[in-house]
Amino acid sequence: MHIALISIFPEFFSGPLSSGLMRRAREAGILSFSLHNPRQWAHDRHRTVDGRPYGGGPGMVMLPGPLAGALAYLGFGRDQAPGRLLLLSPAGRPITQALARSLAAESFLTLICGRYEGVDARLAELFPLEAVSVGDFVLHGGEAAALCLVEAVARLLPGFMGDEQSGEEESFSRGLLEYPHYTRPEEFQGLSVPEILRSGDHGRIAAWRRRASLETTRRLRPDLLTTAPLEEEDRDLLRSLPRLGRNLYCGLVHYPVLDQEKNSVAVSLTNLDIHDIARISCTYGLGGYFVLTPLEDQRRLLEELVRHWTQGRGKKRNPHRARALSLVRWFAGIAETVAHLEAVTGRSPLVVGTTAADEDPPVLTHRRLAEILAERPVLLLFGTGHGLAPEARDLCHAFAPSLRRHGPYNHLPVRAATAVTLDRILGDWL
Ligand SMILES: C[S@@+](CC[C@H](N)C(=O)[O-])C[C@H]1O[C@@H](n2cnc3c(N)ncnc32)[C@H](O)[C@@H]1O
Repeated sequence: MHIALISIFPEFFSGPLSSGLMRRAREAGILSFSLHNPRQWAHDRHRTVDGRPYGGGPGMVMLPGPLAGALAYLGFGRDQAPGRLLLLSPAGRPITQALARSLAAESFLTLICGRYEGVDARLAELFPLEAVSVGDFVLHGGEAAALCLVEAVARLLPGFMGDEQSGEEESFSRGLLEYPHYTRPEEFQGLSVPEILRSGDHGRIAAWRRRASLETTRRLRPDLLTTAPLEEEDRDLLRSLPRLGRNLYCGLVHYPVLDQEKNSVAVSLTNLDIHDIARISCTYGLGGYFVLTPLEDQRRLLEELVRHWTQGRGKKRNPHRARALSLVRWFAGIAETVAHLEAVTGRSPLVVGTTAADEDPPVLTHRRLAEILAERPVLLLFGTGHGLAPEARDLCHAFAPSLRRHGPYNHLPVRAATAVTLDRILGDWL
């Protein structure tokens, strides 16, 4: 494979491309590089490669001319390309192992390293640029990012790594993060290597590693599990792992909520809300689903309904429903629910409100809420009627983001809002 690097700082690459396996790969003819400085195609006296941005603003932008000159030199034209052309950019698609694998199958790659505020946008209209990013952060220039890509691709080339298997085993190769590694000494600062890895039993070691790999992926990158190839045993194991959802409790508030005229009122229970939110809470593995109303007759109604489905004839007819409805509990209000959670969990829950309106901070992102669940219980409150009244909102420590705040119509039924919110916090796709 040949990689052409376009950069105004070609010297940046001299160390990394001449060290370790990269040097060996070059010597063995597995990989070669060429460096192209756009200044060579800058024709003014100062060999200028940057200009002020049209429309004003800070910083400079890379001129299209010198970059187009370098690309023409490498054989790129309007309808011709000697190979794939990548622009390192924070606005690009994330570099993944799958992308590295597809690039490793090429024989010629060209990488453009941006500097300043980036490159003139017209370059992407003139050439088949694929913008790629090393992550959601901003580097000073594309050279360090290009090196990441070069390393990820190079180590997949046949002959680059001594032990071909090490590429097969590691993170992302089988769609999962890798299991933890240990080496000598057996005991280090009071910590010993897991016994199983010293047992010499290869079957048990492989099973331990698979389990560790699945657990790590579930904890750190659950999104990978949606596409990773999984065996039936893997699925069984994933089902048996403790879930973050058990720290999440959902509360459906019937008082104080707003009516159409923005008065604080009490709203009657709805059979559908009780059933559906119980099923949703059970699906996402919640610790409990609380129905909040101070009205005695409503309480009796709820308890009768729950009894029917969890103990009575309903249980026999539909055991799945019985399981979901066993999560349901009555509380008179938010303060009583919080006191209950303090008593059963030993921790004070974070009370998080939900709303269709755009909230001022403190809004917590769904991802942040998932992180908090690892540390403490969260009581997530949904309002019936026209949403939580100010007295209820005052008891919330924070709010979850509104689900469709930029849409022209934002009136989800509370059951749907519960499902969407829980999926954003706990969904398998995350
Ligand atoms: C200071 S950055 C420009 C940032 C740009 N103004 C923006 O806000 O997106 C200069 C150059 O560094 C490279 N770069 C910075 N962050 C990167 C990232 N996360 N992935 C890939 N390249 C990056 C790009 O080549 C970029 O043109």
